[in-house]
Amino acid sequence: MAPSPRLCSSRILFAVFFLAAFAAVVSNAGKVAVYWGQGANNADGTLADTCASGLYDFVNIAFLNVFGNGSTPGLNLAGHCDQATGTCTSFSSQISSCQQSGVKVLLSLGGESGNYSLSSADDARSVADYLWNNFLGGSSDDDSRPLGDAALDGIDFDIEQGNGTHYDELAMALSSKCNGAGAGGCLLTAAPQCPYPDAHLDAAIKTGVFSHVWVQFYNNPQCQYDGGNASALQAAWVQWTSAVPAPADVFLGLPTAPAAAPSGGYIDADTLLSQVLPAVKGAAANYGGVMLWDRWRDVTAGYGAKLKGKV
Ligand SMILES: *[C@@H]1O[C@H](CO)[C@@H](O)[C@H](O)[C@H]1NC(C)=O
Ligand SMILES: *[C@@H]1O[C@H](CO)[C@@H](O)[C@H](O)[C@H]1NC(C)=O
Ligand SMILES: *[C@@H]1O[C@H](CO)[C@@H](O)[C@H](O)[C@H]1NC(C)=O
Ligand SMILES: *[C@@H]1O[C@H](CO)[C@@H](O)[C@H](O)[C@H]1NC(C)=O
Repeated sequence: MAPSPRLCSSRILFAVFFLAAFAAVVSNAGKVAVYWGQGANNADGTLADTCASGLYDFVNIAFLNVFGNGSTPGLNLAGHCDQATGTCTSFSSQISSCQQSGVKVLLSLGGESGNYSLSSADDARSVADYLWNNFLGGSSDDDSRPLGDAALDGIDFDIEQGNGTHYDELAMALSSKCNGAGAGGCLLTAAPQCPYPDAHLDAAIKTGVFSHVWVQFYNNPQCQYDGGNASALQAAWVQWTSAVPAPADVFLGLPTAPAAAPSGGYIDADTLLSQVLPAVKGAAANYGGVMLWDRWRDVTAGYGAKLKGKV
């Protein structure tokens, strides 16, 4: 018996529904970002090993923590290298090997301690020029690129000092350089604290040039997970995911171990996967995945390994 037209069309509808559901599941697969570079005694291992672990889609090199206001920009990668004597250039080949394995490598600006600020729109533009020529697609006249020739995939803003003035101008200046570089350009990302709006990055985020915003849901008691209570986290998540301009994806930034966040926010991996992530994903179409602070604690905690393929 030939199938009736009605049955036939319901089969097609079923197939379409199935494919759409499959596509939704695939596009809903989150990514994982991690910070590397601040391990005590290099206990975070090498950049190459971090990428080769296969656990992360993005690695933020932490930090360029001196820049702006006339200062000579400076990297602080804890014990990994010393920019002054040129030893950080050894990371160039590791950056390339990360990129060959599909991991995006970014330079993170700022951090909790350092000496950075922007004094004017001109200062912001000159820092953008410096970053472009020394870490991205440009080239420096004297070939003094601190991390060598490898061009990073982008710049991350982890601004935690000062009053936030001129970071919108820095973001815009970087964006125009990156887009001028052609298809692909470079990534601009931001790591605000979870209280909304962020004290330092609000204007920069509102420019709409960031593609990934990883919000720090730790060391912020007013909006982090607290001993089984996710209500403050969920309220802040809704605020952030509603406010961040499209097309940016918003990431849930979490510590890899309790010691990584002295003021709290740690969520054990089982609770994260079974309770918190389902709620967070269900609340926002612009969920992008999870950001982890940091690789140092993850080496021993194995937190990223528990999340692999499940965020
Ligand atoms: C911070 O940088 C300024 C120059 O922009 C410099 O005068 C000052 O000494 C620096 N402070 C520290 C603590 O490094
Ligand atoms: C820039 O540096 C000067 C001199 O060190 C200081 O007085 C001023 O407050 C700094 N400006 C910013 C925006 O940090
Ligand atoms: C931000 O800080 C700088 C340097 O301290 C100061 O010159 C500027 O007036 C401040 N801007 C605002 C909006 O507070
Ligand atoms: C959970 O935290 C919220 C504040 O973030 C508080 O109002 C609420 O009472 C807490 N719930 C429990 C069961 O402790």
